[in-house]
Amino acid sequence: MIINDHTDWLEIDLGAFKKNIEKMKEITGRPVMAVIKANAYGHGLAEIAKAALQGGASICGVARVEEAFRIRRKGIHGKMLVLGGAMADSIPFALAEDVSLTISDPVTAKIFSDEAVRLGGVVHVHAKVDTGMNRLGVPVEEGIEFLRLLKSLPGLRVDGLFTHFARADEVNAGTTEIQLDRYNRFLTDVRGAGLLPPLVHAANSAASLFFPAARYDMVRPGIALFGINPAEDAVLPDGFTPIMEWKTRLISIKDIPAGSGISYGHKYTTTHTERVGVIAVGYADGFRRVEGNKVLIRGRYAPVLGSVCMDQCMVSLDDIPDARLEDEVVLIGSQGGKQISAEMIAHKWGTIAYEVVCGLTARLPRIYRDEA
Ligand SMILES: Cc1ncc(COP(=O)(O)O)c(C=O)c1O
Repeated sequence: MIINDHTDWLEIDLGAFKKNIEKMKEITGRPVMAVIKANAYGHGLAEIAKAALQGGASICGVARVEEAFRIRRKGIHGKMLVLGGAMADSIPFALAEDVSLTISDPVTAKIFSDEAVRLGGVVHVHAKVDTGMNRLGVPVEEGIEFLRLLKSLPGLRVDGLFTHFARADEVNAGTTEIQLDRYNRFLTDVRGAGLLPPLVHAANSAASLFFPAARYDMVRPGIALFGINPAEDAVLPDGFTPIMEWKTRLISIKDIPAGSGISYGHKYTTTHTERVGVIAVGYADGFRRVEGNKVLIRGRYAPVLGSVCMDQCMVSLDDIPDARLEDEVVLIGSQGGKQISAEMIAHKWGTIAYEVVCGLTARLPRIYRDEA
């Protein structure tokens, strides 16, 4: 099997990804924009884009024009929206490849329209309003004027209108209700002014699942489609499964005498003759150089000893005497009934699971299976 050629790799289950999309559609009753920015949250951009469209997503959302470009270059022609900022230089590509752009301010709107007119085309855009994230978007109070401007610009066609929630994963924070209230009042005015675009959207994964009022015409989830909880308090319902496993191999086993320092900086010293394994994973793959990491070998947890190096790290095999060279080692996934999830690693690293998977670097081969 090809997998045996690798010492450090990701296994990604596209069938499970498609089932997660189906589940999201079933729960929300809405079309899904699959948010697959940042190399599809580390899972591999083009393969996930293709699976998303095959799996019933109506459109893919990316953060950068470069991501849209990489998807199109792979011959994937489905609908696409760039959710982040774009430059006027991208207009020829957006026109030629039918990629929609986000418009979040009047100055950019005019520049994009002028450029599209100059090229003899009309760019499809989604207008973004800010209801409380305080990131991209026209303040909602200026939204009507903004939509009027967009309507008057000959080089733009507004297909959608959206906002983004700051705290939907904190299910009880109350902020999402405040943002929803602002958005709803704004939408009433937009409707009244006859400026409502065909698609209104707002909901990331947490909002899609836990705030039904946020679903509007389409939901816009990312993390849930990868089977990862948006937060410790925002846990996915049954029916979603993680789609990625991260594995490596045991590449050395030695008995190290008592009193020996292990790895750079000798941060760990053996207390007795210890059986120490080397595994082929390091911080250059996205395995953070922090204390307390552990992996699974032969269905048992093996603590990492000392500092994580760039390409390797050492693990204790004292409790796994049957470990052998080339044994499969699990960093994310399950083995022998035990599990390590991206969420567990995030907890240990003091971050969010998004950062764990987005931090998996290009060096890791991504191996896909599709049993849907
Ligand atoms: C504008 C926008 N919409 C949707 C999403 C998807 O969010 P999530 O992965 O939490 O579902 C993101 C991700 O951060 C985003 O920036």
